[in-house]
Amino acid sequence: MHKGAKLALGVAVGNRMLATNDPRIFPSYLEQPTAAKAFPAKFLWGAATAAHQVEGNNINSDNWLLEHLPKSMYKEPSGDACDHYHLYEQDIQMLADLGFNAYRFSIEWARIEPEKDFFSRAELDHYRRMLEACHRRGLTPLVTYSHFTLPRWFAFQGAWENADSPDLFARYCQRATDHLGDLISYGATFNEPDLPYLFRWIALPGTPPDSSLATSLAANKAEVRQQLNAPLFSAFLIGDGQKSRDNMMAAHTKAKSAIKSAKSNLPVGLTLAIEDDQPAGANSRFAEKQAEVYGPWLNLAKHDDFIGVQTYTRQRIASKTLPPPENAELTQMGYEFYPESLEHTVRYASQQTGVPVVVTENGVGTENDARRVEYIQRALTGLKRCIDDGVDVRGYIHWSLLDNFEWIYGYVPKFGLVAVDRQTQKRTVKPSAEMLGKIAKTNSL
Ligand code: BGC
Repeated sequence: MHKGAKLALGVAVGNRMLATNDPRIFPSYLEQPTAAKAFPAKFLWGAATAAHQVEGNNINSDNWLLEHLPKSMYKEPSGDACDHYHLYEQDIQMLADLGFNAYRFSIEWARIEPEKDFFSRAELDHYRRMLEACHRRGLTPLVTYSHFTLPRWFAFQGAWENADSPDLFARYCQRATDHLGDLISYGATFNEPDLPYLFRWIALPGTPPDSSLATSLAANKAEVRQQLNAPLFSAFLIGDGQKSRDNMMAAHTKAKSAIKSAKSNLPVGLTLAIEDDQPAGANSRFAEKQAEVYGPWLNLAKHDDFIGVQTYTRQRIASKTLPPPENAELTQMGYEFYPESLEHTVRYASQQTGVPVVVTENGVGTENDARRVEYIQRALTGLKRCIDDGVDVRGYIHWSLLDNFEWIYGYVPKFGLVAVDRQTQKRTVKPSAEMLGKIAKTNSL
């Protein structure tokens, strides 16, 4: 209908006709019937966590070691985190009570195989209990097999730089799926394996023009090795980019076969960090960035059952990545508040891979929960536009369920729908959690 024509119409309220743009009319009167706001049937609505960021005391992991080095890059150690290791039952109950129907979490390789070749049945049983808790509460579990952290022994033998790493990872995935597979609904081998290349494109404020986050992490590697007196030590983010990527790509393929051999109908994929890249100026290296960072992984994902999209912001790319526009609102992470990135990256990932999309992370670091509410509403409005255009999107999983350990930034950034008092471990539900839970319950915006 022509826009002007709509304005000429009226709505009967009592015995009066009000113009359709009259503010006294509840907006839903004016817009499409509610069905048009509905998401597809069985749409997954959830929140995500990652083991190291919430469980606490992940002492056999490489990250625990890095957090406790005399000269550590970490603002503070993870410590007890949110003690989700013990409190998972109440956290899962809370997620269900809020109205969600899905929970994305990671299982921790460093717990399951704390020493090479020793697989802990007790730890596998722990994750079995978590999965059972999800099913009891009607939550679909999406499981990540590796969310950044690695067993120490694996790091000491070179992590992803080691030629044995694909087989070692596939073997762990096999063991975990043998034990847990019947209860897992979606499996992701890796969380954001494209991050090391993405960090090459992120400039650090106040450093020389060519310096990137990747460069400073690489410099840190030498120092880490020296402090540990361990010439081979490596970790996900400090590994040699090319070697680690080759091995992680092989690891994904091998792990997928291993997982499928234990449970053939389990949908398997990986999740990618995708920024909403926007070309700026005539000589933009935008296409080069996309080919370098996402290209190889998107190609691999064409053979998967789904692609997990994780996005937080946009980047404007000229000959290098530009800083956010001057008047832009910044999040606690220093990047631009830009919820529209979700619509753009979901379209991009779907076009590039042709497989169904699950939004496995999207969120904002802020102390001001009202900003989170707005972020979610705008992001979901864009996501709905994708779906209306026929993009196959299966779910929206918000990052994060809890305020948690944000890696080198410690506990400062607040990404949670739920606040955590780390002295008492008391949880406090924020308005954004209620709002998103209501959307989940009604499956509609
Ligand atoms: C990671 C999370 C992290 C979040 C917020 C993603 O890159 O998967 O572990 O906490 O972004 O920065």
